[in-house]
Amino acid sequence: MAFRKDFLWGAASAAYQLEGGYRADGKGLNIWDVFTNCHSAGIKKFVRYNETGNEACDHYHRYKEDIALMKKMGLKNYRFSINWTRVLPDGIGKVNEQGIKFYSDLVDELIKNGITPLVTLFHWDYPYELYKKGGWLNPESSDWFAEYAAVVVDALSDRVSYWMTVNEPQVFIGLGFYAGNHAPFLKLHSCDLLQMTHNVLLAHGKAVKVIREKAKLSPRVGFAFATACCSPLDNSKEETEAAYKRSFDFDCGNYLFSPGWWADPIFFGKYNEKGYEIFGNDMPHINEGDMEIISLPVDFYGVNVYDAKSIMTIDGYPEGTYTGMPRTSMNWAVTPETLYWTPRFLYERYGVPIMITENGLANNDWVSLDGKVHDPQRTDFIERYLKELRRAASDGVDILGYLHWSVMDNFEWADGYDRRFGLIYVDYRTQERTIKDSAFRYKEIMESNGERL
Ligand code: GAL
Repeated sequence: MAFRKDFLWGAASAAYQLEGGYRADGKGLNIWDVFTNCHSAGIKKFVRYNETGNEACDHYHRYKEDIALMKKMGLKNYRFSINWTRVLPDGIGKVNEQGIKFYSDLVDELIKNGITPLVTLFHWDYPYELYKKGGWLNPESSDWFAEYAAVVVDALSDRVSYWMTVNEPQVFIGLGFYAGNHAPFLKLHSCDLLQMTHNVLLAHGKAVKVIREKAKLSPRVGFAFATACCSPLDNSKEETEAAYKRSFDFDCGNYLFSPGWWADPIFFGKYNEKGYEIFGNDMPHINEGDMEIISLPVDFYGVNVYDAKSIMTIDGYPEGTYTGMPRTSMNWAVTPETLYWTPRFLYERYGVPIMITENGLANNDWVSLDGKVHDPQRTDFIERYLKELRRAASDGVDILGYLHWSVMDNFEWADGYDRRFGLIYVDYRTQERTIKDSAFRYKEIMESNGERL
């Protein structure tokens, strides 16, 4: 017993990271556009080497070529996100038909090539015009998101049935508004952040409602959340229980990254008690009916998993790591067993099928003298992680699919183009693409539905 027969194998991307075309065909500006371009005054470097997503992989103009490569790589599913301001330049109000046309054509091209489109509504490229109105802190922000969701669902739901509302609110709030190293590069206080998380949860819920009410094809709705669970230090019952507990627990320093903070309200219709204990009166203001919207049923729990969530030990090492252990070029620990424990714990707690909406690694790839990209670390990473995911499936965890991050090298947020996560190598000087060796191995794995691992 291993992966289910209809397992979704594929890869993922996000609009800002690969599209480029940042002013093309009536597109409005988002916070990443604005902040990555505002370094000209030389005041502050937001992104390593002051890079921007203005051109990125120029996927906006090259999507047909890219889809041809995806087909060659044997991808059957492709998760991508919609750039909100391509569709609604000001975030709300006037619709940009050319933006809609781009995504509609993209979906057609995917389907023509036998690839199922999975759509993420929001992967961090927040409309600048709405940001100026207070963004996620504005009490109307969830209605803005619902308006945007309705436009996209109207345009694509006759061909798209998998929907993810938001990608990693943990990260876009945690890094964007708390740590200040992602757009809009702010450092806010908890009372603002807590209300913001509530507004994002409401936005998620309202989008679920819109999708269910308006979709033409019967929809499968979820989200793509960040943060893996803790892995137990050994297989004992005590350690397993302790790791489970630590996975969902949080304190005032790390709640933004905890599934207990974010997912409990969606699945249980109320905030985790711990929130009331530690934040008291700072807890979000909840209007009547909010929790009902937030907890509208979803069809799957999408989770992006890179490395196991770690707890710092007293000697300063994150739990489960050791001196000299394998690390990716993001310096993230290679912890394959997280693809066993994360789906297992999430399934145990929330009871819906799990979709691995991202997993992968940054690696120092380059084109060899023979014109190929040899990336044995990525091949090894994929094999190790997928074996663990298969073990979870064999142990009865309902796993819907696995989407590798990423389909191609792209703009890695504050790290710019330095970090290569792709199955396809991109030479940014020429926009030439080269399929990496690992993609061919991944193809074999997908074709055998994980048997040949
Ligand atoms: C995720 C994010 C992606 C990608 C990846 C690798 O947090 O959703 O956009 O950047 O990490 O860092």
